[in-house]
Amino acid sequence: MSKLFRIAVLISGRGSNLQAIIEGANGTYEVAAVISNNSEAAGLNYARAHHIPIAIVDRAEHATLSDAKLALLERIQDFAPDLVVLAGFMWVLPAAVVSALRGKLINIHPSLLPKFPGLDTHKRVLEAHEEEHGCTVHYVNEEVDGGPRIAQCAIQILEDDTEDILAGRVLETEHRLYPWVVEAIALGDITYTNGKVSMTAAGRERAAAVGFGVPGEVLKG
Ligand code: GRF
Repeated sequence: MSKLFRIAVLISGRGSNLQAIIEGANGTYEVAAVISNNSEAAGLNYARAHHIPIAIVDRAEHATLSDAKLALLERIQDFAPDLVVLAGFMWVLPAAVVSALRGKLINIHPSLLPKFPGLDTHKRVLEAHEEEHGCTVHYVNEEVDGGPRIAQCAIQILEDDTEDILAGRVLETEHRLYPWVVEAIALGDITYTNGKVSMTAAGRERAAAVGFGVPGEVLKG
């Protein structure tokens, strides 16, 4: 039996994307570890329920936050993952960590990047009277929410959308997009070379079939 593609998922809180990624694993990848900077993160319960190894990196156990972040890199490397998946992980990673994991580190962000990097995206999108919103999965580089984009899932903003309603609707798109991207990377349909993302024709076809936008193509809702 060939070795499954191993991912480590990093979380700080709720862990609903972790849950979607665990439930989306259908024999292409395995969640080899869940790592958190918060021992109380609710999402750790999904890891426990699925008997996935957990590692905690606690800021309080290190002299400085920078030391804690370097310890995080060591914990990640202990599991030798093929891919590191940030899913609501609330530490900005320093250049040393980003550089050690370059091309193997992805994040999901609740906006159609490059629009609305940073926090409070749903509120800002409504205030800006945008017509559409959604989520983006991207490789991580040194710029927060700025790395090469892999795929996006867009939704139309509706008249009745409040910040909370929109947050829920965008979260649903995240739960569809993130496992799909992880699987596509595991299958080799998405690759990263020198800061550029490539997708095979088969990957593009599969993306189009489920309505995901990919680099260089018009977004489909
Ligand atoms: C998601 O909205 C994700 O886009 C952002 O943090 C949130 C994490 O939610 N990066 P959850 O912990 O996966 O439920």
